[in-house]
Amino acid sequence: MGKKRANRKEAYRPPAAEDAPAMKSTVTSRVGIVAIVGYVMLAVLVQVGTHHLVPIHAAGDYDGMRATGALAARTLAHVEPHIQPGVTTAALDAIVRDFIADNGATAATLGYRGYKHSSCISVNEVVCHGVPSTEVTLNAGDIVNVDVTTVLDGWYGDTSKTFVVGGEDASDEANRLVRVTREALKLGLEGCKAGARLGDVTEPIHEHLTRAGYGVVNQFSAHGIGRTFHAAPFIQHGKGRKGRGLLLKPGMFFTVEPMANQGVTATKTLRDGWTAVTKDGKLSAQFEHTVGVVEGGCEVFTRVPGTDAFI
Ligand code: MF3
Ligand code: CO
Ligand code: CO
Repeated sequence: MGKKRANRKEAYRPPAAEDAPAMKSTVTSRVGIVAIVGYVMLAVLVQVGTHHLVPIHAAGDYDGMRATGALAARTLAHVEPHIQPGVTTAALDAIVRDFIADNGATAATLGYRGYKHSSCISVNEVVCHGVPSTEVTLNAGDIVNVDVTTVLDGWYGDTSKTFVVGGEDASDEANRLVRVTREALKLGLEGCKAGARLGDVTEPIHEHLTRAGYGVVNQFSAHGIGRTFHAAPFIQHGKGRKGRGLLLKPGMFFTVEPMANQGVTATKTLRDGWTAVTKDGKLSAQFEHTVGVVEGGCEVFTRVPGTDAFI
């Protein structure tokens, strides 16, 4: 038996077998070293965590975030009365663009990774990154998320809100999805304060949404923000447990922006490379605030100044 196997091995050896071992061992050892270094780095990262990658801003930086956040919130309030049956999402985007420019700021999305618009406008089954278009007209009963990010004096303010087009005309189910998603953001932010953990923010969100029967999107994350659009920490709303995860400290700025699906959590991206839709074609809603951690809570930068409205 042993002999037979040895013979078979011999027979299958390729013609270049003489040279191959030396080459192969060099390649193998390089791959091996890369794998070992990669593994050690991963192990260190798991132990140490990624918290050292999360920028801690100075007390004075809150002023910049307040100004840009207020402008982002006012932009949504400004566009809201225009969200009516018959309007195109391109027309809404132009209103966003002009308002931001008139207030001495720019839209962060303009030119971002080739994106050519001042907002993302996501209708019905569009989860996020809906591309404004003259071809997309709103109808009574639609739900539509408008997501704006202002850059004012170098500071980024990111907020979004889902509106129901022609309120009474929308189905009870659409209205419920929008209401519950707004509640989820509120509950998450109630868990946000210095000394808390990221899981204290995300668990109330996914608990509330899953209890209501909705799918929580993990494909797209919330993110650190400040003088950059997207930074650590990257936050998955469907994951995390109370008392676990990143320790929240004053000076941390990030968004909280849960996306809730009526059906499955899975999404797919359309051929335009941006528009993310639910895999099953059912509705999706989202709300987003930009916040800064403070003692005893989180300051919500993206609230409309002078009003009591949460979002
Ligand atoms: N505003 C989105 C967010 O909440 C990002 C949009 S990026 C774009 O992070 F390029 F799609 F506009
Ligand atoms: Co965001
Ligand atoms: Co946004």
